[in-house]
Amino acid sequence: MDRVFPRKVLLGVTGGIAAFKSPLLVRALVKAGAQVQVVMTRAAHDFVTPLTLSTLSGRPVLTELVERGAADGGATWNDHVHLARWADVVLIAPATANTLAKMAQGLCDDLLLACYLSATCPVFVAPAMDLEMFRDAGTQANLEILRGRAVKTIGPENGELASGLSGDGRMTEPDAIVDALIAALMKPSKLAGMRILITAGPTQEAIDPVRYIGNRSTGKMGFALAEEAAARGALVELVAGPVALTTDRPGVTTSNVVSAAEMATACKTRFGACDVAIASAAVADWRPTKVATAKLKKGAELVPLQLEPTEDILAWMGANKRPHQRLVGFALETSDERKNAEGKLVRKNLDLVVLNSLNDAGAGFGHDTNKVTLIDRDKNVEELPLKTKADTAIAILDHLERLL
Ligand code: CTP
Repeated sequence: MDRVFPRKVLLGVTGGIAAFKSPLLVRALVKAGAQVQVVMTRAAHDFVTPLTLSTLSGRPVLTELVERGAADGGATWNDHVHLARWADVVLIAPATANTLAKMAQGLCDDLLLACYLSATCPVFVAPAMDLEMFRDAGTQANLEILRGRAVKTIGPENGELASGLSGDGRMTEPDAIVDALIAALMKPSKLAGMRILITAGPTQEAIDPVRYIGNRSTGKMGFALAEEAAARGALVELVAGPVALTTDRPGVTTSNVVSAAEMATACKTRFGACDVAIASAAVADWRPTKVATAKLKKGAELVPLQLEPTEDILAWMGANKRPHQRLVGFALETSDERKNAEGKLVRKNLDLVVLNSLNDAGAGFGHDTNKVTLIDRDKNVEELPLKTKADTAIAILDHLERLL
């Protein structure tokens, strides 16, 4: 299977000859689904051009803490704290003896070192230098210090070096670096590489140009599921109704829709290519038969709203499900909860139903927590305690993986 690494990577490139492999490393990361922000040292510019790395990563390459000569004649500050917090992982490859020494001493004379000092995520270095420099007691002591501070080393490898000598000091090959990151940071998951369709949030059914029928769903549960599925390596198609949430998780593609009809169209075009669909959206069951073209005036005679049912998207997916596809639905119930949820599981041809009871404190719309019961097609029932929506997403996907 192709490599899957949907993570935000801050890639530090320092000034060694192995930087000629950096473009390949950026490509390998991007191909695996990573978002890559390159931060180069000044010395690295002598070995590889920022243009090459910005083209391959799709983001401007950064070098200076303060960029002078901005178009307006002023200076721009590159916010190292924000950059470090953005990253899921900091990878410095190649890491020269000089940069390793500065890291070990806590020096901070460029943007990359400032990012390293600000990082709270895992940090990996791929040392690359000539064999005597690598063997040098100072370099070894610095690596020891860094390992003691939980910095992980990848390589170096033994082999032919740029000097013509042979020994330890070759930077690990780009694909092998990505493999090392995957092995260290990705839990093996059956969802890796799968396509998952997730619906989230409410829908709005227009009454007139300013009014609509809606509901209190915020989309938090659906977004939590999308982010967790992507973290496991799934390629997520997130179809979201009107919500205040956004996600920049690598692996999640978000499509924003407004009405149940738009959500149905978006799902129908995506469902065929998906292995799993999770319907967490609170789709309106009814919509006005006619949408007034002008705003309804309060002085006018009150005309009762005529409603018609919307299409049940989940039921459509259940009816069109192919044998390899798995379907997860939600059931928000206020009475006869278990029985109603089991009814939905059968009626809509689901593999798993997530039962939300509005009777539970801290569960349901708007909360950061949820309390759900999972019922699967084999009649296994998993009653979960009150958890954050992020932890609930983990439990739902763990249960789903058992059904794959
Ligand atoms: N759903 C959907 N399209 C709709 C309505 C609901 O895809 N038009 C999905 C929801 O995303 C959820 C599940 O169906 O996963 C449960 O929806 P719900 O409205 O609770 O159940 P219904 O089957 O509509 O039954 P009832 O209204 O009787 O509870």
